[in-house]
Amino acid sequence: MDCMTMTPTKPLSELPLAALQFAQQKPFVLQSTEREADMTTDSVSSRSPAPVEVTSVGRIRMQTSDLNVHYGDTQALHDISLEIPENQVTALIGPSGCGKSTYLRCLNRMNDVIDSCRVEGSVKLDDADIYGPEVDVVELRARIGMVFQKPNPFPKSIYDNVAYGPRIHGLADSREELDSIVMESLEQARLFDEVKDRLQAPGTSLSGGQQQRLCIARAIAVKPEIILMDEPCSALDPIATSGIEALIDDLKDAYTIVMVTHSMQQAARVSQRTAYFHMGQLVETGSTDKVFSDPRDPRTRDYISGRIG
Ligand SMILES: Nc1ncnc2c1ncn2[C@@H]1O[C@H](COP(=O)(O)OP(=O)(O)O)[C@@H](O)[C@H]1O
Ligand SMILES: [Mg+2]
Repeated sequence: MDCMTMTPTKPLSELPLAALQFAQQKPFVLQSTEREADMTTDSVSSRSPAPVEVTSVGRIRMQTSDLNVHYGDTQALHDISLEIPENQVTALIGPSGCGKSTYLRCLNRMNDVIDSCRVEGSVKLDDADIYGPEVDVVELRARIGMVFQKPNPFPKSIYDNVAYGPRIHGLADSREELDSIVMESLEQARLFDEVKDRLQAPGTSLSGGQQQRLCIARAIAVKPEIILMDEPCSALDPIATSGIEALIDDLKDAYTIVMVTHSMQQAARVSQRTAYFHMGQLVETGSTDKVFSDPRDPRTRDYISGRIG
């Protein structure tokens, strides 16, 4: 794969999957700053725009309603309605094959690249349907970045891995600006101190945990609002895992995070909200404390107690 020749103007279908996760665009401009201000007050004046939904879990950034997904004739998700609150970690848990990854991929239209996959229902980012005809999918994936199970740095230097997105989308006007984006992203991903003396070394020369932090730095470099993570620690040893978990905990202050995990302990450690999936259905969702300590549904109870899964 020659990453340097890829540009965001290429048709999506021609972009290698690895490039899609951090395809990036100019930073998103909020449609209304008034709208932000509304959130801080209980009263909404009559000439204000439609208020952003504020619930007990905080501002809702993403929302799926009656989401149905098929692969060919097989239905993988059934009527999934779920809200993703801002600046929290939402964990998606459930037995293997229950549809967690499928659901996660719906949130930034990563399923678009799977020919047999059909998505029905609505997925909103704020109040806009991300499947709307006017949506630029490349821009969307910049706002909603993704980190995969297996760290997948490009066969490039550490510096170039992080600089890649900002470069192809012209985020930096000068070398100094690019340097500072790279440095800040590596710092935010808690990797800078470990690599600052070897930024030109290949990304693949790093340990697994460092590579995953590099991938997180690469996702951050394009200033996303939401970060999707699909079992980001499952290829890592326990020490690297705890580093990534601590990092995720940090990142939620700046980003909204949705994370698939097969580890209930991990969901309990790092998430504030948990959604339990079972055979393509969303069985239960709520605060992580509640779902783990007092699950409503017997299927959730069985899973959490280790009886299924
Ligand atoms: N690319 C695909 N093509 C066909 N079926 C798929 C594809 N990806 C997932 N599936 C099917 O969709 C269902 C949900 O899978 P997945 O979302 O990967 O579950 P999980 O992440 O919870 O293990 C499974 O039955 C799986 O076989
Ligand atoms: Mg999966």
